[in-house]
Amino acid sequence: MATLNADGVKALKTGKAFTDAYGNQWHSVTLTAQIPNQVTAQQQQLWTEAAQLKDRSCSVCHAAPVPTQMSVNAWPSVVKSMGGRTDLTQAQLQLLTSYYQYNAIHK
Ligand code: HEC
Repeated sequence: MATLNADGVKALKTGKAFTDAYGNQWHSVTLTAQIPNQVTAQQQQLWTEAAQLKDRSCSVCHAAPVPTQMSVNAWPSVVKSMGGRTDLTQAQLQLLTSYYQYNAIHK
């Protein structure tokens, strides 16, 4: 995960727009940039790790929720409120939020 500074935001190329069921507009974007540190090209490893976190920490009180159970918009607040009932760190909750959103009903 990463955040963009003002130069990064300016370098974004905006593509197609999509309006979700809640009326929010989403745009596909592309960004070409240099990253000084090594990053993983294996996105699947991150999702595997996130799924393990979910299976371990989100199944204590109810069945571990699957990503397609909720929309991309709903997951952040659900993980935030449910995260307080787990021992997951902020970084783990961020990964879990990304996992749920990326694999949610609306991509
Ligand atoms: C300590 C118990 C507990 C843990 C741990 C827990 N939950 Fe929950 N969860 C609940 C309860 C109780 C509800 C019923 C609604 C409520 O009380 O808010 C619920 C409801 C939900 C719902 C349905 C919410 C809705 O609006 O329909 C989702 C999705 C969910 N939890 C996801 C998660 C995720 C993701 C995690 C792990 C980060 C998690 N839960 C961990 C107790 C827990």
